[in-house]
Order: sequence, then structure tokens, then C-alpha cells
Amino acid sequence: MAPSTVAVLTGASRGLGQALALGLLQAGTRLVTVSRNHDDTLAARAMEAGVSLQQVQSDLANPAAAERVASQIVAGLPKDAQRYLLINNAGTVDPIKQACDLSNAGSIAAAFSLNVTSVILLTAAFLQAVKPLQADCRILNISSGAGRRPMPGWGVYCATKAALDRYTEVLHAEQHGVRIVALAPGVIDTGMQEKIRGSAANDFPHVERFSHMHDSGQLSSPADTAARILRYIERDDFGTIVLDDIRNYA
Ligand SMILES: NC(=O)c1ccc[n+]([C@@H]2O[C@H](COP(=O)([O-])OP(=O)(O)OC[C@H]3O[C@@H](n4cnc5c(N)ncnc54)[C@H](OP(=O)(O)O)[C@@H]3O)[C@@H](O)[C@H]2O)c1
Repeated sequence: MAPSTVAVLTGASRGLGQALALGLLQAGTRLVTVSRNHDDTLAARAMEAGVSLQQVQSDLANPAAAERVASQIVAGLPKDAQRYLLINNAGTVDPIKQACDLSNAGSIAAAFSLNVTSVILLTAAFLQAVKPLQADCRILNISSGAGRRPMPGWGVYCATKAALDRYTEVLHAEQHGVRIVALAPGVIDTGMQEKIRGSAANDFPHVERFSHMHDSGQLSSPADTAARILRYIERDDFGTIVLDDIRNYA
């Protein structure tokens, strides 16, 4: 039977992506995920729900691997679904350092490759695949407030998310017949926040503020954020506001 929705989601092995993946396990959906690690919980839940799940293991910080995975995934997509979703969620906040210490080319390149290059490659393959189809096609790029406001110590992260936002705007301007949004998801209680709280104050001067936000219960849960994002994706006006923030919605 043809799936009604085909969803491709990156960074599904933990954090926000895992919660999004669990929320996408609905009858009629075929889900393809990309992360470095396989997620046994997700596999078990897909089995229980009777949903077709393909977990592709790949390091999207490696541009050659990202290029391979983009064409591999898209070549295998069914052509007869009513709806196609691409959710570019995988991301890294590393390297957390102030500008004078950003001297490791490898870590900077890896962040740009994961947060920007892999999104561009997956999107190109997705656009090629859905172009001939008469289907509802939506792309959601998980951005960050960091792409819209400077944060000391996040020179690379802010630059990648700002690049992601601008790339999303270009995609929208090119009018591919696909609806696109770059969405800031708010501050979520994931491994990424743990890493942020573990930063040295010298590298990340706002570390105390982030620890306080966590300790005073101000972080949203991955499950709650994912539920709100999945409702947002369903909206009839999805794609009208190209740079959006989930905190603008109930
Ligand atoms: N948490 C927040 O407060 C917050 C705020 C604003 C924006 N965001 C954005 O939300 C998205 C999800 O963040 P999160 O907090 O859920 O992060 P997270 O807990 O660190 O999870 C990151 C996910 O990305 C995958 N990933 C990381 N490096 C990868 C690589 N090289 N290749 C393939 N997959 C990779 C990880 O899987 P593997 O390790 O298995 O590869 C994991 O599934 C990111 O784009 C982040 O920038 C988060």
C-alpha cells in the first residue's frame, strides 16, 4: 500500500529529533532517519506502530558521506505518497569558543558541514525527487535563535544557523513549489543543552544563565517541543513565514 506521508528526518537518535521521530510514527507514514547511531527504542516503537522505518547511519559532518546519503535516500523514496516532508534537524553547537580560540579548522568545517552543507545536499536531492510528483511537499529546517541574535562563544554555531536561515530564504525565493520554513525551536532539555552547561565560562560567558534556566525548570521537554512542531508542520499556512519561532505558537 502507498504511504500517505514520506518523512525524512535527520538527527533522530536523541534529543529533539528522537521526539520528532516518535511523533511521526503514525499509520500511513514511511519514516527515513539519518544519524550516526542506530536507535533501538525508535526501531521497537516503529515495529509496535506498524510503521515503515529506515534508519540510515551516516556522519553528516563529512560532506562526502552527506552527498552519498542524500542521493541514496532520495533514490529509494516511494513516488506515490500524498505528502513528502524533509526535516533537517541534526545539528551541533560545537565548537564553543570565543573568536580568538577558534583555531581548529576541522571542528569549524565539521560544524558547517553538519549544520549547513548537509542541509543543502539533502534539500537538493529532495527537490529533485519531488519535482515530478503532484504532492504536498514541505521542508522544515531546525534553526535557532542563535542564528538571529549574537551569543558570545557561539561564533561558529551562530554563523551556521544564520547561514541556514538565509539559505532557507533563498529556497523560498526560488519558488520550487515546496513550502519551506526555518524554525527556531526554543530552549530544549537535550544533550545539546547539557553540553552548553558543561562549557567553561571562559569559552561561553553565559554558561551560568543557561545553568539557571535548566535548574529553574525553564527548558521545554523534547516531547512537548516535538508535539508543537508536528502541529506546526500541519498548518495550512505553513511556509508563509519563512523564518519562524515555535515560541510564537501555543
Ligand atoms: N536544544 C536546544 O535548546 C536547541 C535550541 C535551538 C536549536 N536547537 C537545534 O535543534 C536541533 C536538535 O538539537 P538537539 O538539542 O536535539 O541536539 P542533540 O541532543 O545534540 O541531538 C543531535 C542529533 O543530531 C545528530 N547528529 C549530531 N551530529 C551528527 C552527525 N555528524 N551526523 C549525523 N547526525 C548527527 C545526533 O545523532 P548521532 O549522535 O547519533 O549522530 C542527534 O540525533 C539542532 O539543529 C539544534 O541546533 C536546539
